[in-house]
Amino acid sequence: MRILITGANGQLGIALQRALGDHDLTLIDLPEVDITDREALAAVFAAAGPELVVHCAAYTDVDGCARNPELAYRVNATGTQNVALACQSAGAALVHISTNEVFAGDEPGGYEEWMPLAPRNPYGRSKAAAEAHVRALLGRAYIVRTAWLYAPGGRNFIHAILRRARETGTVRVVTDEVGNPTYAPDLAAAIAQLIATRQYGTYHFVNSGACSRWAFANEILRQAGVAATNVPILSSAYPRASTPPPFAALHNRAGAALGITLRPWPEALADYLRDST
Ligand SMILES: NC(=O)c1ccc[n+]([C@@H]2O[C@H](COP(=O)([O-])OP(=O)(O)OC[C@H]3O[C@@H](n4cnc5c(N)ncnc54)[C@H](OP(=O)(O)O)[C@@H]3O)[C@@H](O)[C@H]2O)c1
Repeated sequence: MRILITGANGQLGIALQRALGDHDLTLIDLPEVDITDREALAAVFAAAGPELVVHCAAYTDVDGCARNPELAYRVNATGTQNVALACQSAGAALVHISTNEVFAGDEPGGYEEWMPLAPRNPYGRSKAAAEAHVRALLGRAYIVRTAWLYAPGGRNFIHAILRRARETGTVRVVTDEVGNPTYAPDLAAAIAQLIATRQYGTYHFVNSGACSRWAFANEILRQAGVAATNVPILSSAYPRASTPPPFAALHNRAGAALGITLRPWPEALADYLRDST
């Protein structure tokens, strides 16, 4: 299949290049193609003639989005609208990547695919607006929400925890933010399975199981064999520009019904640590 990947140089984009390697891939990213530029997108779509687009490009710095909501909306919402319109013109199906931050995060039991959206920060609002554009413009679309993504070589939460623990012997991590750490290659493999189904709809693809940031840090330190003190703190003691949803773990019900599941997060973490050292 002819597949176009936006944000191809990002964490998920790189993992998808490998997972979809049997397909005819067109890869786009900044600085060559900006998704806020409709003419540039039209030219790429005309040349590539994609049958399917996997849209990973986004302004993913949640604190940056909180400081500059206008840019968040332009890239994440209007940029996605542009990608969806280009798919409409090309007759291409779309896989749109979304986030657990579209939810309020007040559900200790976590979120099913069909629960109502109530984003609490500019990043989440821009991504919820993106989902609305996709639903309004395309019938053949998969919306895939994920969370706490990390990938080999990335400057991610795991990297930050290990570096600080090795440098100072102590990390301070919040207990009141719960989610699903998700390994980008596992997500990419699930997306590769999903596109073969043509079961368009909304999916929650995360490594199974949920934990707090503090528990995630504990497991990182344990598996990496780094002896450090992991001090539990509340997010009120760690002020930041964005307010993350406190309890925004996702449940993969729709994917599981198709036989698409992701392994438990501690197993994926072990693979990441093995491949990163
Ligand atoms: N990371 C997470 O924890 C997480 C969690 C849930 C959902 N998601 C979603 O998953 C998707 C992939 O995330 P990721 O972690 O792979 O993101 P990433 O590593 O930040 O990659 C995003 C890519 O999009 C590019 N990009 C940004 N603005 C663009 C624009 N205007 N036009 C074209 N490309 C642009 C970025 O380029 P630059 O690097 O040059 O800016 C980057 O290469 C995103 O939709 C994100 O919202 C991520």
